[in-house]
Amino acid sequence: MKTQLVILDFGSQYTQLIARAVRELGVFCEILPGTSDSKTILSKDPKAIILSGGPASVNSKNAPRAEKEIFQSKIPLLGICYGMQLIAVEFGGEVGGWNRDGIGEEGKSGIEEKREFGRASVKILENDEEGAFSIYQKAEEIEVWMSHGDKVTKLPDGFSKVASSSGAPIAAFSSNSKKIYGVQFHPEVHHTKTGKELLKNFIFNVSNLKKDWDADSFIENTVSSIKEKVGDKNVVCGLSGGVDSSVAAILVHKAIKKQLHCIFVDNGLLRENEANEVMKSYKELGLNIRRIDAGERFLNELKGESDPEKKRKIIGRVFIEVFEEEAKKISDVKYLVQGTLYPDVIESVSVVGSSVTIKSHHNVGGLVDNMKLDLIEPLRELFKDEVREIGEELGLKEELIYRQPFPGPGLAVRCLGEVREEKLKVLRKADLIVREEIKKANLERKIWQYFAVLLPVNSVGVMGDGRTYEETIAIRAITSRDGMTADWFMFEESLLRKMSSRIVNEVTGVNRVVLDISSKPPATIEWE
Ligand code: XMP
Repeated sequence: MKTQLVILDFGSQYTQLIARAVRELGVFCEILPGTSDSKTILSKDPKAIILSGGPASVNSKNAPRAEKEIFQSKIPLLGICYGMQLIAVEFGGEVGGWNRDGIGEEGKSGIEEKREFGRASVKILENDEEGAFSIYQKAEEIEVWMSHGDKVTKLPDGFSKVASSSGAPIAAFSSNSKKIYGVQFHPEVHHTKTGKELLKNFIFNVSNLKKDWDADSFIENTVSSIKEKVGDKNVVCGLSGGVDSSVAAILVHKAIKKQLHCIFVDNGLLRENEANEVMKSYKELGLNIRRIDAGERFLNELKGESDPEKKRKIIGRVFIEVFEEEAKKISDVKYLVQGTLYPDVIESVSVVGSSVTIKSHHNVGGLVDNMKLDLIEPLRELFKDEVREIGEELGLKEELIYRQPFPGPGLAVRCLGEVREEKLKVLRKADLIVREEIKKANLERKIWQYFAVLLPVNSVGVMGDGRTYEETIAIRAITSRDGMTADWFMFEESLLRKMSSRIVNEVTGVNRVVLDISSKPPATIEWE
């Protein structure tokens, strides 16, 4: 899609929120590193540019800066926090108040050092009739979110002061003739009550952008660009049942139908009946898909191995081998479909800010190099909730769209120690009970992940009149926003009783059930 608005990232923790807010307003936007070559930025022909916040101080020597051409481009600009300070300095203003070493910069303007974090109140000083701030009235107090040490201490030439707060005497400035605006607060954070309105005004009234972003138009544009890119070549896609790969595959399928060859590797480490259900859904969607039953091969390779990392490595390697063998049977393959999402892409281009790890896509990493394939990543521009929206629009079933995350190495990381078929059978039965009960209690959407883990522990019990020495199941249920941190979920006592008694009664070989009450950190979500 064509970018109407570019967000220049200077390392703010909120940059993605700016993109989300702009998308929610129905405008397609792209995030680029703030220090990008101005030619690259301007070649996108954006009709508006937002400069994000960032952790640096514009007064420090190594501060990331946008090139001069951006400020002189006559494209409407909105600077947020650090972005505002960059604009100030560029046009002859001054910034002070705090520097990175934590020493107040008593400095040039002689202002008192004061940092502002969290909710704050900003007072509007002027009626700015035509520009970004025309939504406000003089003397209006607005509730905003602040997060800054530095602040603008001297107005840049040709700008008017629009608002002030106790920590930032120049909390907003504008130049309507240049169509350049700056705010010290964060309109993209939902605590800023009028933030969305401000962005809307900047985007539609000041910059005259048109709405171009909704599920329908995204699907239409993506399908036609895939058609054009692929031509008469063949494309392969590894499907796992997860929402990202499913939506990516359906989009590509819509574009090139039978030229898309989907491969579903059943590694024997899936949940009860999962492989059949997933295959059924894909067939109903009309995908050209083949299932490779490789369970035995995976189990043979895993034999005798109980080290968690080695187990993961074996599974990753065997997956690539199996997938590659299958893909090689298809002639004229040029592309591989991958369900990469926007947060992964942004992380990889961000040049400043905290240390970032790029998520490597566990399953297909080695394939691109080995098979010399080019990637098709139709979801590269989307956030997870947008992927779900597209999935709904494409007619995917709710079970696929809202499926709980499931790790690539499957039950192997929940069957602690050596993985053997008889242990997997026990785990599958217990896991099914946990899932059934959570579904009955209508908790599926409230809990991020919920599953059973088979511990490598036997313990003594009594059943009927006999002594038992059997296995232990742990129940793990967590809430999370993104899987990076997690809290354990508090079940009602009756539900715990139900799950526990069903597991010991129905799963032969288990005489004890425990509940995992560990958050992440320090524990991880999966046990291995
Ligand atoms: P941890 O256990 O690290 O898991 O707290 C965080 C999230 O990632 C999932 N997970 C994986 N997903 N391949 C995946 O695609 C993997 O190898 C993998 N390992 C863990 C886990 O289920 C949780 O949602």
